[in-house]
Amino acid sequence: MIALSLAEIAEVVGGQTHDIPDPSVQVTGPVVRDSREAGPGSLFVAFVGERVDGHDFASAVVEAGAVAVLASRPVGVPAIVVEDVQAALGALARHVVGRLGTTLVALTGSAGKTSTKDLIAQVLRSKAPTVFTPGSLNNEIGLPLTALTATEETKFLVLEMGARGIGHIRYLTGLTPPKVGLVLNVGSAHIGEFGGREQIAEAKGELVEALPPAEEGGVAILNADDPLVRAMASRTKAKVILFGESDEADVSAENVRLTDTGQPSFRLHTPSGASDVTMRLYGEHHVSNALAAAAVAHELGMSADEIARALSEAGSLSRWRMEVTERPDGVTVVNDAYNANPESMRAALRALAAMAGGRRTWAVLGKMAELGDEALAEHDAVGRLAVRLNVSKLVAVGGREAAWLQLGAYNEGSWGEESVHVSDAQAAVDLLRSQLRPGDVVLVKASRSVGLESVAQALLETGAEGEVAAR
Ligand SMILES: Nc1ncnc2c1ncn2[C@@H]1O[C@H](COP(=O)(O)OP(=O)(O)OP(=O)(O)O)[C@@H](O)[C@H]1O
Ligand SMILES: [Mg+2]
Repeated sequence: MIALSLAEIAEVVGGQTHDIPDPSVQVTGPVVRDSREAGPGSLFVAFVGERVDGHDFASAVVEAGAVAVLASRPVGVPAIVVEDVQAALGALARHVVGRLGTTLVALTGSAGKTSTKDLIAQVLRSKAPTVFTPGSLNNEIGLPLTALTATEETKFLVLEMGARGIGHIRYLTGLTPPKVGLVLNVGSAHIGEFGGREQIAEAKGELVEALPPAEEGGVAILNADDPLVRAMASRTKAKVILFGESDEADVSAENVRLTDTGQPSFRLHTPSGASDVTMRLYGEHHVSNALAAAAVAHELGMSADEIARALSEAGSLSRWRMEVTERPDGVTVVNDAYNANPESMRAALRALAAMAGGRRTWAVLGKMAELGDEALAEHDAVGRLAVRLNVSKLVAVGGREAAWLQLGAYNEGSWGEESVHVSDAQAAVDLLRSQLRPGDVVLVKASRSVGLESVAQALLETGAEGEVAAR
């Protein structure tokens, strides 16, 4: 965090200082909630969790060099005591970003937030110092902790914002008010908790409502191809920029194709010029994510050439999203087990087909969660697509949805052992270990709850001959 004295912090958060001999001492290190991360100069935030009470670590963190604890009760070591630690953390973040004059970019959506946030960060940091959400820390605690890592040097702060209900995004934008707000899509993630797609749109749209008006530099970046996102234009006073395939889009892609390694290439069009992109990421769903990132970067003053270069160099910063690894025996493992929805399933299968180049391809797939009434039809369609794309072997893993997937493949004309249904991840690993041959390409993908990354990891831990593979 930028250097602030304990007295200043206490004032900002409305807290009482306890056991602090000298309130002019400054916090100069990071603000942390994990006691193991508390080092010299840090401020430790003590949350009371279900299993652990952060206050129990107060002495340990001070011994490790923490200057003080932000706590809800005195702890016998230097502490700033407040009623509500989460609210205090939020107030501190709000104060710090207000002092810094960093440009804040916030994004939300049902799928692709982390992938797109990682792209935006890589594009912007090719231009100027950029701080961004690590992984998916997109909630009321992760977001302020990330914001507090910004310093005077930080030009851009890119924040992923998640929501599980109405009012969540409004709360987050209150802590870190964005100048540029991006909404990717309204899908079915957490639809049960929200009550329906309209409610999800209502919640995600809070992001663009929080933006400053166009005259003050506010920019809303919206997906032109998603009607519920496109409609959010009426909920903002900010300037609206559209990305996507629609003719209306200000930022779009032309000649989209997959290379023979499964990586998308296209010509990027922006309001001030065009440039060619070949991505290092795999799967065409990243085209939409790349256009969103390009729209943000263009609004923040980057040229089409600069953006295209950075997009072409951007790698995967977060795990299990189309993570491609070559085993020493020539088997290629594509780990996309982080999550799945119909669109990304199709994109992953097309990438697998493009990567084949005459090699045998395996699709090890599990259920796509939260599809409601569409579940049967969507799983059936994925099974059929695997056959149409000539995937050599489909291994459907898990219960009912996996059975639908396999039946779809069967009905589309997959014969004999071309498609199989196995009960769980271990059965899939056993099958693959006995049948994989050097040169095969294996895609592993399902919704988060299925945990299929264990399959990908098992495949990478042992080579075909049972040797431990280098990673
Ligand atoms: N533009 C997109 N459209 C649809 N699906 C996508 C898109 N981008 C990524 N995905 C899929 O969504 C999954 C999750 O991606 P990512 O982690 O980027 O999303 P997220 O919105 O951050 O998720 P979370 O809510 O878990 O934080 C990926 O594994 C991929 O399958
Ligand atoms: Mg995420």
